[in-house]
Amino acid sequence: MAKLIYSAITSLDGYVEDAAGNFDWGAPDREVHAFINDLERPIGTYLYGRRMYETMVYWESVDTGPDQPAVSRDFAEIWRAAEKIVYSRTLPTVASAKTRIERELDPETVRRLKEAAPADISIGGAELAGQALALGLVDECHLFLGPILVGGGKRALPDTVGAQLELLDERRFGNGVVHLRYRVGV
Ligand SMILES: NC(=O)c1ccc[n+]([C@@H]2O[C@H](COP(=O)([O-])OP(=O)(O)OC[C@H]3O[C@@H](n4cnc5c(N)ncnc54)[C@H](OP(=O)(O)O)[C@@H]3O)[C@@H](O)[C@H]2O)c1
Repeated sequence: MAKLIYSAITSLDGYVEDAAGNFDWGAPDREVHAFINDLERPIGTYLYGRRMYETMVYWESVDTGPDQPAVSRDFAEIWRAAEKIVYSRTLPTVASAKTRIERELDPETVRRLKEAAPADISIGGAELAGQALALGLVDECHLFLGPILVGGGKRALPDTVGAQLELLDERRFGNGVVHLRYRVGV
């Protein structure tokens, strides 16, 4: 069965977005980006909250010319190859190929998707992923903790969900970012 993986780049105090709505402080450098690319390469389907989709759809049309950084060209190819499901009650249409809209996060539909999917599934947008965690749908959390405190904003993890986790892997990067990979629901 495919795994559902929640990945997030967060501040050390656990925010994906600061109180002003910025997350430029979390932008991966080339070393982190290359690592993320390798993690994302096997992903067959992305489940996105509408807000995260609106950020990520940039990769559909980004310049992939030879003058662009190799990690960006690589990620654009990975992103374009995957299926995407956008969760939204308001979005009328999507702006990328291989993309469809779901109007509700239905746990049974996601369970069936996990059973049928030939490759792992990623979920993003903290709001959507928090609901999936609460529903017991998430198998792994991949957190990239950056060396910064932003003091408030949008939490990477919901404050209403309790779960026991098992640390599966960790990695430190030259820019002070730490990657932590956890299995959920031991
Ligand atoms: N830390 C980083 O490096 C990083 C990277 C990229 C992006 N970000 C930012 O992180 C933020 C993540 O966004 P977020 O956590 O606020 O939101 P999100 O989960 O990406 O999207 C929230 C939206 O998803 C839809 N949605 C949520 N639950 C739903 C459900 N059960 N059924 C149907 N639709 C549902 C709703 O869209 P509608 O309102 O359309 O109904 C809701 O407003 C974004 O601002 C993004 O730009 C951070």
